Amino acid sequence: MNFMETQQPQQKRALITGVTGQDGSYLAEFLLEQGYKVMGIIRRASYFNTKRIDHLYVNPDFDAVYGDMTDHTSVANVIEKFKPDEIYNLAGMSQVGVSFEVPVYTMETNALGPLNILEYIKQHAPQTKFYQASSSEIFGATGSQPPFNEHSEMKPQSPYGVSKLAAFHLVRNYREGYGLFATTGILFNHESPRRGETFVTRKITRGIAAILRGAATELRLGNIEAVRDWGHSKDYVKAIHSIMQQPQAGEYVVATGDAHSVREALEYCFGLVGLDCQKYVVIDKKYFRPNEVPYLEGDASKIRALGWRPEYDWKMTLKEMLEHDIKSGGEEPSKYINFPVTESAEKPTELASVPTQ
Ligand code: NAP
Ligand code: GDD
Repeated sequence: MNFMETQQPQQKRALITGVTGQDGSYLAEFLLEQGYKVMGIIRRASYFNTKRIDHLYVNPDFDAVYGDMTDHTSVANVIEKFKPDEIYNLAGMSQVGVSFEVPVYTMETNALGPLNILEYIKQHAPQTKFYQASSSEIFGATGSQPPFNEHSEMKPQSPYGVSKLAAFHLVRNYREGYGLFATTGILFNHESPRRGETFVTRKITRGIAAILRGAATELRLGNIEAVRDWGHSKDYVKAIHSIMQQPQAGEYVVATGDAHSVREALEYCFGLVGLDCQKYVVIDKKYFRPNEVPYLEGDASKIRALGWRPEYDWKMTLKEMLEHDIKSGGEEPSKYINFPVTESAEKPTELASVPTQ
């Protein structure tokens, strides 16, 4: 924490847990642009896990220290020393499918982790604002009609969804019970070239890039009938910041309101490079989940009324990711993406339908 001496008066201080992740890295960039001092918490790994934030270390207003959401003292120590005005809790075991295999760890990280921060704030720093990264997975297999808003029924379908719903209620309890500024963003799926490589959109764009350069001949996926409301992480971190600047803490859905199936995403991405996804996609039971959330579409009217608007739609997001992954493989995207999808040389044919759970 060597930048503390250089802090300007009035300069806001933000602590970001999960700073090495997709959203954490974009949020850190955004807050630095807004003039914040930013401290990140990174967790120890046996490999370099800071590639999304390495470019930020040259900024004297940025620093990061080790900590882990399951080691509550480590997080409390950072809060005590850094004394943030705003804490953005983005750290999370974020893979829904994996949460079925590590349910206890998922609850410890995603539910007990934020609870411990809230408890610290309550006891030692009640003026500190707290943001919780919640998820559209809390709606799960809800009986409410889509699109889902802050009042829709919540019926999560995975340990991940349950952990995020537990944290959602804890944040509400601490807000209402102790008067803390504890606020929640219920974010629907959002992607980017920094998206983790095991999430479905990134699997698709990386898989196509590998096929194009001859490094793969197929792409193995699970339930391609699932429907998601895909936005872009850069748009969503602006929403997160806006939620934190409101006079009152609360709950806000962040979504585009435009939902598409994994099958549509596949057909769009393969179509962009003139390939027929039918020839490459293999449906593999290994990637099906014990419970599935079949349809997620958000109603973001509440945050839209505050002026937030997404700049990216799902096609712009996927195209940017595909271009990035082709380039990362050492090739020039324009060699492959040289026509609009509607003029694709090889019109995609329909994939065979897949049984759902
Ligand atoms: P991500 O790329 O997977 O990043 C998760 C971050 O949490 C990483 O920095 C990770 O560290 C860190 N982390 C995981 N377990 C930790 C632990 N025990 N202690 C400390 N740090 C830990 O996820 P994201 O897409 O940026 O999402 C950010 C948050 O929003 C997550 O909580 C996620 O559940 C939630 N969310 C995401 C979406 C979405 O569509 N992206 C939608 C709704 C909600 P490593 O880098 O070392 O793995
Ligand atoms: N990951 C993955 N891999 N998903 C697949 C695959 C595959 O091979 N094949 C089909 N899918 C389906 C999943 O079953 C799911 O229905 C959908 O694609 C999206 O999966 P993910 O990209 O893994 O995202 P998610 O919707 O489960 O969860 C993401 O969004 C949540 C918000 O709704 C994550 O970012 C969560 O952290 C986030 O809370």
